[in-house]
Amino acid sequence: MKRLFNIGLLLVSASLAVGCFNKDDRNYQYFPNMYESVGYEAYGSYETFENSQEAKLPVEGTIPRGWKPYGYEDSNDGYQNAKANLSNPLPYTEDNVNEGKALYTIYCAICHGDKGDGKGTLSQREKILGIPAYNDAGRAITEGSVYHVMYYGLNTMGSYAAQISEKERWQINHYVMDLKRQLNGDPKREFVSEEEAELNTLVENTDATEEMSAEEHREDNHAAETHEEETTEGEQENTEVN
Ligand code: HEC
Repeated sequence: MKRLFNIGLLLVSASLAVGCFNKDDRNYQYFPNMYESVGYEAYGSYETFENSQEAKLPVEGTIPRGWKPYGYEDSNDGYQNAKANLSNPLPYTEDNVNEGKALYTIYCAICHGDKGDGKGTLSQREKILGIPAYNDAGRAITEGSVYHVMYYGLNTMGSYAAQISEKERWQINHYVMDLKRQLNGDPKREFVSEEEAELNTLVENTDATEEMSAEEHREDNHAAETHEEETTEGEQENTEVN
């Protein structure tokens, strides 16, 4: 009798269990918080997080994919170190130098002049003072020092790390050293052929930014200038109102 009752109980509970089962539903959730996570808003404020802020800064030392850190610090020691030890990893090919010249004309010539004599338009109009010629003996620029000042800037000269990719900076670098040779009346450096260059290519354009053509750089640079002008005008308006 007891056995019969047990079997009956089993049947009833089994049919109950099966009867309530609905395959379209989640049914019984064991550890429900494993199914239902909390959806945080990207810029929301939640006590769980430090400063109640969901958006976090990347961990210290994080670098973007494809970007290589520059190993010399922004100090006098860093400058001297780069000046003495850093050299141009790009082969001195005609293409690299031509590309460097195009970029130089867009970014640097306005101050340094087409010949690198320090007599660009902004120098002639006395907008920026103290622009040196590239063959200035006291400065004795090297590939390393040129790269360093392009990366960090130097006093009134701004940094070009954001506008120009690593490869482009080295292309300009070749051209700046060319201008220095020309100013000194030194003989031209001989180009490395493309085939030779391919064998010893040390630097690929690894920057995360896509490569831009000289034309796109020109537009980009122009857009930045127009924006600057607009801001200055805006500021002037503000002063008038006050
Ligand atoms: C807004 C004007 C301006 C622009 C644009 C500019 N420079 Fe300069 N540059 C200067 C001035 C001013 C100095 C002198 C800074 C100082 O010694 O205080 C200088 C110095 C230099 C020096 C000498 C640094 C040294 O070691 O003493 C180099 C090399 C140089 N610039 C390269 C470049 C290159 C390459 C570009 C383009 C990517 C460029 N500059 C764009 C104004 C400019």
